[in-house]
Amino acid sequence: MQVIDNIAGMRALTHEWKCDSNSVGFVPTMGNLHEGHLTLVKRAKAHNHKVVVSIFVNPMQFGQNEDLDAYPRTINADKQKLLEAGADAVFLPSVADMYPRGLEQQTYVEVPGLSDILCGASRPGHFRGVATVVAKLFNMVRPDDAFFGEKDFQQLQVIRLMAEDLSTGITIHGVPTQRSDSGLALSSRNGYLSDEQKNTAATIYASMQYAKQAIESGERDYLALEKVLQEKLAQAGFRNDYIHIVNANTLQAASTDDSHLVILVAAYLGTTRLIDNLQVHL
Ligand code: PAJ
Repeated sequence: MQVIDNIAGMRALTHEWKCDSNSVGFVPTMGNLHEGHLTLVKRAKAHNHKVVVSIFVNPMQFGQNEDLDAYPRTINADKQKLLEAGADAVFLPSVADMYPRGLEQQTYVEVPGLSDILCGASRPGHFRGVATVVAKLFNMVRPDDAFFGEKDFQQLQVIRLMAEDLSTGITIHGVPTQRSDSGLALSSRNGYLSDEQKNTAATIYASMQYAKQAIESGERDYLALEKVLQEKLAQAGFRNDYIHIVNANTLQAASTDDSHLVILVAAYLGTTRLIDNLQVHL
């Protein structure tokens, strides 16, 4: 596995691979890798000849009171995991290379509408930071395919639109959420939770499954169902950010004739903000 820390080196490597008729798959990450990330790498490896994984903790997508400085950086363990998962290259750009004129002077990419609701409403500027860095990484790596987790459902939709609107020609793949046995979605932020909080956190998946079964059994009063979920999570000890049942494409409130829905949850346990979602096909 090659370790590349500069943009020119990254471009040269994928150029060389493509000249040899290799297709290139790309998995952007912020590191502190777990099985969720590694599933994306394995998916990419099954689909493409060569796989690049980037590790870049992107300051542009963190709000002022968020955990940028505390974000776990575990680069040596990450490299070992990527080697075992079959990545061909790991790309580690520096903040100075990514944003040579600083965050304020940076041209940015904004996906309107989708970026302002749900997590975008709670975290102003977050999706602008995500769309900008992913567009820049696409220009550095120039992959054929890119792989993102359904765990971050809104992020996946924002990136799909960005990739299409900017005519990147890159195929975006969504990969199902990997969970622990308790149902808790794997996340770097789970490292902030105590064992007791981890048990409580499993309530998110149980509550979403309850709602999914209710919908599959014919429940169509989505607002009432959202209220039930809010109460379940509040009782378990969460401070709810949002709980919505939405159309999976538009992320707008679900209507009774929608056939592909997603239940979206964002809630705090102590100071840790957890997000999760579950799709429902009718
Ligand atoms: P990060 O949180 O490191 O996640 C990297 C990728 O792993 C994302 O596509 C995310 O959806 C996916 N992922 C995380 N947990 C997962 C799980 N339990 N199952 C499946 N996939 C999972 O998301 C980001 O980084 C950043 O916003 C990034 C896209 C890299 C831009 O900076």
